[in-house]
Amino acid sequence: MSDFSTSVLSWYDQYGRKNLPWQQHITPYRVWLSEIMLQQTQVKTVIPYFHAFTEQFPDVQALADAPEDRVLKLWSGLGYYARARNLHKAAKQVCRDFSGTFPDNMEEMQSLAGVGRSTAAAILSIAFEQSHAILDGNVKRVLTRYHALEGWTGKASVLKQLWLLAEQHLPASRHRDYTQAMMDLGATLCTRTKPRCNDCPLQAGCIAHSQGNMTDYPTPKKKKLIPKRHTIMLILQTPQQEVFMQKRPPTGIWGGLWCFPQFDTQQDLDDYLQTQQLSTLTSKMLTPFTHIFSHFRLHIQPLIIEVESPLIASVMEDKQSLWYNINTEFEGGLATPVQQLLNDLI
Ligand code: ADE
Ligand code: SF4
Repeated sequence: MSDFSTSVLSWYDQYGRKNLPWQQHITPYRVWLSEIMLQQTQVKTVIPYFHAFTEQFPDVQALADAPEDRVLKLWSGLGYYARARNLHKAAKQVCRDFSGTFPDNMEEMQSLAGVGRSTAAAILSIAFEQSHAILDGNVKRVLTRYHALEGWTGKASVLKQLWLLAEQHLPASRHRDYTQAMMDLGATLCTRTKPRCNDCPLQAGCIAHSQGNMTDYPTPKKKKLIPKRHTIMLILQTPQQEVFMQKRPPTGIWGGLWCFPQFDTQQDLDDYLQTQQLSTLTSKMLTPFTHIFSHFRLHIQPLIIEVESPLIASVMEDKQSLWYNINTEFEGGLATPVQQLLNDLI
C-alpha cells in the first residue's frame, strides 16, 4: 500500500472516531441515513436526529411508508430541507425499484435522490467494504494542500484532478476505515483555518506544509471584481432649508428618480459653480460612502454648499429641477443615497 493510505490508516487506528452511532450495527440503511444527514451538518448536531430517525423508522420500508409531513417534522432543525424530501423519495425508490434492498453498486446508488458521487462512494465503502474514493469538502481540502493543487475546486478540470488523486491514494483493503479516516482527518486536523500539521500523518509528504502556505488551499473562487466609479454629489442648500434637486433622465441608473446634481470630477463641479451666479456662504465636504449596484460600486463624495439665493429661475421651467424644502414631504422618487443624505440633513 502507498505511504499515504498506510499513514492515514495507522493514524485512524490511534485517533479516528469509532463510536459514532452509525458506526454501530452497520447496515446500508443506517449508513445511507447518516451520510445524508452529515452532508451539510456537523456530527454532534446529527447524533440526536440519527437516533430519532432510526427509532421512528427502523428500516427503509418504515421510512418510505411514512407521510412526508412526519419525515419533515422529525427533520426540523437539521436544515437544508431538500435533503429530507430527497431522503423520503430515495426510501420510496429503494422500496419500489430495488425491492427494499439498498443497491450495492455506484450506478444504482447514485440513482437515489440526494446521493451524488461522493455520498455513493462513502455508503458503498462503509456499508459494503468496497473500494471507492470520496471527495467531500474535507477531503478536497486535504488533497489540495497535500499536492499544492491550485485552482478553484468547483472548476471541472480541478475537480477531475482531485478525483484522480483521491483514487490513486486508495488503500488495497480496509476501505470502510479509510473513508472514515479521510473524513476525520479533514474534520479534525486539516481544518480550514488552523491545520494541526504537527499531529498530521501526512505531514512528511504534504507540499503545502513544506511551503508553509497551507491556508492558501483550496484556492478560493475568484470574486468577480466589480468596478468602482466616483461621483461628487452637490447639495446646494439655502438658509431656508431648501435643497436643489434634479430629475434623472428616464434611462440609466436611477432613471426618473430625483437626485442632487452630480459631477464626475472636481473640475466639472468647479465649471458648474462658475456658470451659476451663486453667492456661496459656506462649503463643506461630508463623509463619503459607497453605494452598491449589481454591476458596479459608486463612491459618493457629498459636498454641501450653503447659498444665499436659489439658482436662476430658468432651470425651473422644464420641471426637471426644483428647490425642495427638506421639512416637507417629497413628491417623487428619490435615489437611495439621496434619501440617506436628506435624512442626515434634517
Ligand atoms: N461527514 C460525512 N460523513 C461522515 C462520517 N461518516 N463521519 C463523520 N463525518 C462525516
Ligand atoms: Fe493538512 Fe497540514 Fe496535514 Fe498537510 S500536513 S494535510 S496541511 S494538516
